[in-house]
Amino acid sequence: MVEPLVGLEDVVITTSTICFIDGEKGILRYRGYDVSELGAKSSYEEVSYLLLYGQLPNASQLHQFSDELKKNRPIPDTLATILKAIPPKTDPMAWLRTGVSALAAFDPEAEDNSEAANLRKTLRLVAQTATLTTAIDRIRKKLPLVAPDSQLDHAANFLYMLSGKKPDELSRRAMDLALILQADHELNASTFAGRVTVSTLSDIYSAATSAVGTLKGPLHGGANQRVMEMLEKVGSVAHVEPFIKEQLAAKKKVMGFGHRVYTTLDPRAAILKQMSRDLSQKIGPAQWFEISEAIEQLMLREKNIHANLDFYSASVYRYIGIDTDLFPLIFATSRMIGWCTHFLEQYKNNRLIRPLTQYTGPQGLHYTPLANRNSTAAAH
Ligand code: COA
Repeated sequence: MVEPLVGLEDVVITTSTICFIDGEKGILRYRGYDVSELGAKSSYEEVSYLLLYGQLPNASQLHQFSDELKKNRPIPDTLATILKAIPPKTDPMAWLRTGVSALAAFDPEAEDNSEAANLRKTLRLVAQTATLTTAIDRIRKKLPLVAPDSQLDHAANFLYMLSGKKPDELSRRAMDLALILQADHELNASTFAGRVTVSTLSDIYSAATSAVGTLKGPLHGGANQRVMEMLEKVGSVAHVEPFIKEQLAAKKKVMGFGHRVYTTLDPRAAILKQMSRDLSQKIGPAQWFEISEAIEQLMLREKNIHANLDFYSASVYRYIGIDTDLFPLIFATSRMIGWCTHFLEQYKNNRLIRPLTQYTGPQGLHYTPLANRNSTAAAH
């Protein structure tokens, strides 16, 4: 009998040329480029092009790509009406999952699985997930929708559609950086879920919907939201020690710490930490960064567990004015390019993904007619 590989830890299921991680050394590369260099020198549009086409664009390619993204930003009016019909208390990630799924109904190429159509649909999905996220936030707050501004880049336009105000340069830069750092991360749970969907030769919208649904969980994309809720609960640096020690004593996970792949500091957390520090000094209040840093130090001292991407992204988002329960949607907005790039790779070299379970239940039972079954038998 083969020992089950529960959680598929350390299992390699395919080759890929998209994303490289060395979890022991804390290295993350997109198409061979270190994320720290991309974060410092590039833009989300450029990184999206790099992921999708495998190389950095020249000036005219970047211009054309950015233009295509801009053209694809508006969502159909009927889709906005559908979003407005959703009860306002719905979890925003569930709302986004519905929105991404509904996009397919408005795309005449939805069922065309050719590479050319999938590249076009990728640009639509990347552009429109940003619009959906901002629309969902404004609809639930009963605010009018803000039309995209073609003068603004992806990050600035996102913040503009969210708040109705053009962002300051530091906030735009923080948004751009967060989008770059979350754009891809190899075969994480949501990418895997989407690749499984593609492996049945289903369409790219179905795969994106699977991925959004998977990202929603607190062990994945829902962690940054829980980090902010924790920072609010802790409230001040003085409360960090008793709060975290109580969590650890109760064997509860501290959100934003630990990683399936990194055994050292997640390189994205280090970059976002610096951005959080800058924002705390220039926008404030300092408290969110200070509490975060105190928790990070304590977790290292007590458990030798490092912060992950979600940890410092929480305070960064708070500083640039994003509501806590919207954090996972920002993650999805950024990750859409990584997901779609993986979907295209899966279509190119597809084999149905279909693992096995090891059956441990009863065998050889015989059917008992309903009338003969014990009415007090325990329900399964
Ligand atoms: N807080 C406290 N302890 C943690 C921890 C955390 N966030 N993450 C891991 N640990 C501890 C576990 O308790 C376990 O200790 P034990 O061996 O003494 O029981 C050990 O580290 C291994 O943890 P495990 O949950 O088995 O690792 P995993 O690879 O299955 O889990 C995560 C990885 C990300 C799911 C896990 O670290 C976690 O739940 N983190 C919090 C959620 C989060 O931030 N998710 C975002 C990921 S990017």
